[in-house]
Amino acid sequence: MNRAGILIVGSWIALNAFWTIRSIAATSKALPHDQSAIDRAMSSAEAAASRAEKDPTRPLYHVLAPANWMNDPNGPIYHQGYYHLFYQHNPYGDEWGHMHWGHVRSRDLVYWERLPIALWPSKEAGEEHVFSGCATINGTGQPIIFYTSIGRGQSATDHAEQWAAVSDDAMLVWRKHPENPMLSLPLHGNVPIYDWRDPFIFREKGQTFLVLGGNLNRGKGGRAVVNLYQAENAELTRWKYLGVLFTHPDPKVSNIECPNFFKLDGRWLLVVSPHRKVEYFVGRFDTASHEFRSEQSGTLDYGNYYAPNCLLDPKGRRIMWGWVNGFKQGLGWNGCLTVPRVLSLTRDGQLRQKPAPELKRLRSDPFALPAHRLTNSMQFIEQVKGDALEIAAEIEPGDAKSLGLTVRRSVDRKRGVTISFDGQELDVAGVKAPLGLPRGERSLRLHVFLDRSVMEVFANDRACITRVIESDPAEQGIELFVSGGTAKFRSLNIWALNTIW
Ligand code: FRU
Repeated sequence: MNRAGILIVGSWIALNAFWTIRSIAATSKALPHDQSAIDRAMSSAEAAASRAEKDPTRPLYHVLAPANWMNDPNGPIYHQGYYHLFYQHNPYGDEWGHMHWGHVRSRDLVYWERLPIALWPSKEAGEEHVFSGCATINGTGQPIIFYTSIGRGQSATDHAEQWAAVSDDAMLVWRKHPENPMLSLPLHGNVPIYDWRDPFIFREKGQTFLVLGGNLNRGKGGRAVVNLYQAENAELTRWKYLGVLFTHPDPKVSNIECPNFFKLDGRWLLVVSPHRKVEYFVGRFDTASHEFRSEQSGTLDYGNYYAPNCLLDPKGRRIMWGWVNGFKQGLGWNGCLTVPRVLSLTRDGQLRQKPAPELKRLRSDPFALPAHRLTNSMQFIEQVKGDALEIAAEIEPGDAKSLGLTVRRSVDRKRGVTISFDGQELDVAGVKAPLGLPRGERSLRLHVFLDRSVMEVFANDRACITRVIESDPAEQGIELFVSGGTAKFRSLNIWALNTIW
């Protein structure tokens, strides 16, 4: 290397060292990592764990808190060989309150490891709750969480701030950022924003953007919006407001929570949680004008499902988890996440959701029935039973009026949880989703994940219904049924599924 070369390399090394020292200095200025608040929260959840674990209705292969309350999945991210998942968590009771961020990680999307609570309310800084948000790696290579900070005595409606926390690559120990708040209401000039929360970061054409949910008229309907922001520095500590990205077309919708916005198979997908069923909008996003034009929409899941969040994994897959809600109270635990679902769009822009194929690793005890027809009858499957099962069935409806299967069937066949299809609608334990079989699609393809009190049903990868079910632990039978004609069960496969812990 000549002298000029040595000079260039030398100053490059010096510059890098300068930036590294600067970012370490910034981190150590951060609010203390409050180990005592974390210890207190974790011992509270641990104390409740033995009772929660004994509950025979508690799921085995759905991610959930060690005990007590949990809701939204937060900040899913793949980093340095691990999938990290965080979640809204009340370590102090099995009802909503005292929001913290629980934390788990996995190498393979299948087996999960519990980690210390990641985020806690910084009481000394006036913080009451750490609400939902996202995790990313900033332009200096540092892991950073963005979340909604709710202050003491402040209402989540009228006053919220977006805060950040940083960590090293292990993501085990988080510190609140010294420059909090990262975004606050005055950023919008005189545009009033209510219920301003749930940051979600995305990148496009080298720029970093962020969306937040809320509404512009005190939740009175008609102005439920997703707001758009852009980062002004690599550290992601300075942001500017770009305007409203999306207004919900239904004036009855009062507010939008947990927006997710990302590119999928060449189009843009906006997912919103509008205090009712989670919806998605598919369309085009113009990065110059910052306009999103939605071309079609749909329902992500028709059942006990809310506030999903997602990541992009190293294989380029968009993987999403939702919060399964609606459990009985007083069990010492409440809430879990869905199984990871891989999203895709068809060529004409329809959303497809499939359980991550990695979940096959949980299977044991395979059972299969040969293809057969059933006319106006029921068939109890004597050889298998269980309350933690995966079932894959392919059924040609033929001229049958209704067909399907019942799980959690009692021995006297009086009770059970029914999945039925009538040619137009899928009905899972009383919750319906529209589902037609267009010409060329001859079979109903059911993919069922039964996990004690939780059941996720995927029909033809496009109608999804998650249900919280109440069955007696002894009710574990499976029965097929056809009424009003003959249907053909082309295949039926059943596996027992093991725990993810
Ligand atoms: C959605 C939600 C979010 C909020 C969080 C609080 O379920 O209401 O908008 O950040 O839960 O736990």
